[in-house]
Amino acid sequence: MHMWSKTVCPILQNVAKTSSIRTYVKGEPTGPQLKTEIPGPISRKLHAELNAIQPSDAVQFFADYNKSLGNYIVDVDGNIILDTYNQIASIPIGYNHPSLLKVFQNEDNLKALVNRPALGVFPGDYWPKKLRNVLLSVAPRLPNVTTMMCGSCSNENAYKAMFIAYRRHQRGENVDFTDLEKESCVSNKPPGAPDLSLLSFHGAFHGRTLGALATTHSKAIHKLDVPSFDWPIAPFPQYKYPLEENQRENEAEDKKCLAAVEDLIQTYNKKGKPVAGIVIEPIQSEGGDNEASPEFFQQLQKIAKKYGASYLIDEVQTGCGATGKFWAHEHFNLESPPDIVTFSKKMLTGGYYHSIDMRPNQPYRIFNTWMGDPGKIALLEACLETIKNENLLDNVIKVGDKLKKGLLRLEAEFPEKINSTRGRGTFLAVNAATPALRDSIIAKMKQKGVLMGGCGDQSLRLRPSLIFQERHADVFLERFRQILNEH
Ligand SMILES: Cc1ncc(COP(=O)(O)O)c(C=O)c1O
Repeated sequence: MHMWSKTVCPILQNVAKTSSIRTYVKGEPTGPQLKTEIPGPISRKLHAELNAIQPSDAVQFFADYNKSLGNYIVDVDGNIILDTYNQIASIPIGYNHPSLLKVFQNEDNLKALVNRPALGVFPGDYWPKKLRNVLLSVAPRLPNVTTMMCGSCSNENAYKAMFIAYRRHQRGENVDFTDLEKESCVSNKPPGAPDLSLLSFHGAFHGRTLGALATTHSKAIHKLDVPSFDWPIAPFPQYKYPLEENQRENEAEDKKCLAAVEDLIQTYNKKGKPVAGIVIEPIQSEGGDNEASPEFFQQLQKIAKKYGASYLIDEVQTGCGATGKFWAHEHFNLESPPDIVTFSKKMLTGGYYHSIDMRPNQPYRIFNTWMGDPGKIALLEACLETIKNENLLDNVIKVGDKLKKGLLRLEAEFPEKINSTRGRGTFLAVNAATPALRDSIIAKMKQKGVLMGGCGDQSLRLRPSLIFQERHADVFLERFRQILNEH
């Protein structure tokens, strides 16, 4: 199979094979360079200004997006920082990539951006072709795609699609709603608003809107004070590393978690809250880069089918190549595609791929004003072209291998400080011995000119863009080693 067959993707017809590229973005800085501490004085001043307008406690520094280039983000104080975190895993091909800067010089793209349509009701003539040539050219074996804005609203609407399909299956195709259903749903009451549930996993992150938040279980701070649903939450496998040395225990862990899933489905079905769908990330990202085996995902799909639940794979963070395959769940060899795959972040637009079964058969049931943005699809078109033309998935595999080996070497050198290197492609993580050590490593790396992210309680995660090269890996590994030495 693959998504980039030239027959379905005209943008890729003039593919130049370029394997010996030295740099993907001309003029990129040669290394980090620091002028002040981070945040510097200009960042601090802007922070005070912003904080007077809106809560901005999470702001780390202000960036200069004119000067940021390739893998380097430049802050307003002139510090040049190697970015391994990329706007929370969301920059696919680096800052100011020339192919993206060109997109709105094209008159058609500019007009699509300026005359932003309410896509659900007044799409432009270009829309079906754009969806086919851009989003469907990388579809994970699913025939339909519905665009949205962000990751949360993609999940939120995909969840609705799963409930709607579940009730349609129960009711029978083409059977109309009863008057009681129409009346009761408006007051949030069954049978119109039925007591259905979705099964999610401890440690999961699927977003912050109310429905998505009900399936998010990574950190209390996301959920405090917000009412939620009584929906089943299953344990996600917790593996021992290295995987090769702990196969038997990890297989037992898979079995235990799968048994718990089945148990929970039966319990919730019995208590009158049938499980309409299972939602899962291919790698639990915000929750700590927790992996599960291909066999786990295969078995989970079988369980979903057995109980008539849909299977949603949330690729918001893992999608668009960072694991070395375009979609992370392609590593799992599922016997059939999941029912829904959601995306956002590096895909530049939000949305979800879905089976025909997940289409509601009445208008306005999955809907909002914009339903995405054609400007984002124009950017994605250029981005996908670059990924293909420059063989960036090969780059991810090569650089990921180097990074992972480097992390494992550091793990062997500092076993009391870091452990459990894991991940695929450049989508990698390592644990620090304690949460405090993890936080301190991130803070000190920043002062050495390398931006890193954390996830879970004590993990460090790498989320470089697809143009992260071996020389950037060298800079990262060298500075990481210095920081580990200093702790
Ligand atoms: C797996 C996953 N799903 C959903 C979301 C929510 O996306 P957004 O922040 O765009 O709403 C995220 C965000 O980090 C995510 O990692």
